[in-house]
Amino acid sequence: MTAQLLDGVALGQKLRAGFKLKADELAAQGVRPGLAVILVGEDAASQIYVRNKVNACAQAGIHSERYAYALDVAPQVVFDKIAELNADPKIHGILVQLPLPKHFDADAVLEAIAPTKDVDGFRAENVGALMQGQPCFIPCTPYGAMKFFEDAGINLKGKEAVVVGRSNIVGKPMAMLLMHAGATVTVCHSQTRDLKAHCLRADILVAAIGKAKMISGDMIKPGAVVIDVGINRIQEGPDAGKLCGDVDFESAREVASFITPVPGGVGPMTITMLLANTLESAERAASA
Ligand code: GUN
Repeated sequence: MTAQLLDGVALGQKLRAGFKLKADELAAQGVRPGLAVILVGEDAASQIYVRNKVNACAQAGIHSERYAYALDVAPQVVFDKIAELNADPKIHGILVQLPLPKHFDADAVLEAIAPTKDVDGFRAENVGALMQGQPCFIPCTPYGAMKFFEDAGINLKGKEAVVVGRSNIVGKPMAMLLMHAGATVTVCHSQTRDLKAHCLRADILVAAIGKAKMISGDMIKPGAVVIDVGINRIQEGPDAGKLCGDVDFESAREVASFITPVPGGVGPMTITMLLANTLESAERAASA
């Protein structure tokens, strides 16, 4: 079997076409949706992600503001900016690009964002709401993964889902969303014994580990749906410099029924759902 591709660029474009209409509609009511993105330091990948987010806003008719700070900025400067943005009616979403430098208390920074503008859904309050099945904002990457299932008509009820990775950004919220959708969920991580045995049981396999090509075809159940959240840069060999996922795409695609490519899978959907959350926040502000 050769897996069908779950194309994040195509699905993202399909969803984003509706976003522009919605943004213009809100603007006509006097509320142009707005997103502020805060970046600290010179991490090359973060700079690219932030640039992509800002560009995507422009295409979707969403106002955006980008605030970039040097690696050694005093945390108070960032806290002050967040307080200013919390009070700014032009801004409906605030995103602090992670990871932050070591001298920052990242949890404290995220908690400083107004809950109504936490479009990443990372604040404890929003995490709790998601856990209770009443999300205020769904974290963008797992939200994007769920859209793939919806769009491809993949029913999750009663399915065995295995999430590899337990991060706050992806693994934990992903597990919660799959569970709410009716899947039986196992979360694997660096201490898991016999990862392969767990993966081989998965009808739905989500790889969010951050290790290049760690999941190979022999770890995948025939016919499984594979969502690859990893974005890794290949260090050596003929493909050095290219991007790859946490899944070994070539061997996995021969076993899976559906698979997301890297690049062009989950990445564009993360940005798409950030736009969706920003629009939702603006809609709430417009009807408040
Ligand atoms: N760094 C990696 N992924 C994300 C994300 O979804 N949101 C933020 N703020 N930072 C990230």
